[in-house]
Amino acid sequence: MKILAVDTSCDESCVAIVDTESWSLLADVVHSHIDAMKRFGGVVPEVASREHLKALPLAVEQALETANCALSDIDWFAVSDRPGLIGALLVGVSYVKAAAYALGKPYTGLNHIEAHLYSPMLATFEGGETPPFPWIALVVSGGHTELFHVKSESEYEWLGGTLDDAAGEAYDKIGKVLGLGYPAGPKLDRLVREMATDEDRRRFAFPVARTGAYDFSFSGLKTAVALETAKEELTDSRRLRIAASAQEAILEALCVKVREASSKLGVPQIVVTGGVACNSRFRVLLSEAYFPMPRHCTDNAAMVAALAAVHLRAGKLVPSPWTQTPSPRAELAPTVS
Ligand code: KG4
Ligand code: ZN
Repeated sequence: MKILAVDTSCDESCVAIVDTESWSLLADVVHSHIDAMKRFGGVVPEVASREHLKALPLAVEQALETANCALSDIDWFAVSDRPGLIGALLVGVSYVKAAAYALGKPYTGLNHIEAHLYSPMLATFEGGETPPFPWIALVVSGGHTELFHVKSESEYEWLGGTLDDAAGEAYDKIGKVLGLGYPAGPKLDRLVREMATDEDRRRFAFPVARTGAYDFSFSGLKTAVALETAKEELTDSRRLRIAASAQEAILEALCVKVREASSKLGVPQIVVTGGVACNSRFRVLLSEAYFPMPRHCTDNAAMVAALAAVHLRAGKLVPSPWTQTPSPRAELAPTVS
């Protein structure tokens, strides 16, 4: 069976195709809106919707060409229908529903956070292996910081998440305040990796929130960094020290909670996914964890197609009703099985 998946949850138009018989990834297209967003210094939701309208049909065409098949060869469609920018989600969901309906094929709306959560499964489509279950898994992206106890391919428990900003949002806003340009997360990572010393990383003791159980909070850190930045002239060395110290605070908050969950629940296998999982310092500080390869961590539709394929293999892929609409919220139930 061939599954075509679409993800338009934020500012990348993504299309992927998997073959569930050969268990292989036939196409994985990611069209980033980075050029359209650069002049705004961040993602403008309405601009993202308009970019998806232009880029999605081209990305579908490109994916079909790479997979050497026609739209009519697709047996099942999958699409991220929550959470995300509502206008952006609408473009992908409407496209998939229209294509599936016209071709008389089923479609399934999937949760984008669940797709990130199970993105380690993607490795099996490229001849690799997935870490054995159970996992303590952290999904750290631009909009989410969520911690899970993953028991199997289809059973997980949500442990906690951020009370305010996501870790990726903290990276992006701190980088913006420091004038690092857009997208600030990867730029901050690179600057610190190439230039910072251990002393730079320890220069400022920015706050690490000690919130309850498995919660996270990054808004206080964001404010502390903004205040420190405004205090004196921002020379290159001050910029570097603030960036390096802020990164340590963000990553410490993440590492502490993940390790706590791992030891309290007796689950040694730690998995980190989502855009922030690309971060090079994070990979050093939490070296015991499994991090998927960077292109599987940032937004892509291959993880959505892989999730659909895994559900199909388990006999759990259910067609969504045509009346199902996208939602900006994650709507993660405390326990899903
Ligand atoms: O998963 P993702 O591609 O999209 C969302 O679903 O949000 O994550 C994007 C986020 C952005 O906040 C971006 O700055 C952050 O991931 N990010 C990074 C790095 N690469 C991407 N943050 C820190 N270091 C990186 N290398
Ligand atoms: Zn994402």
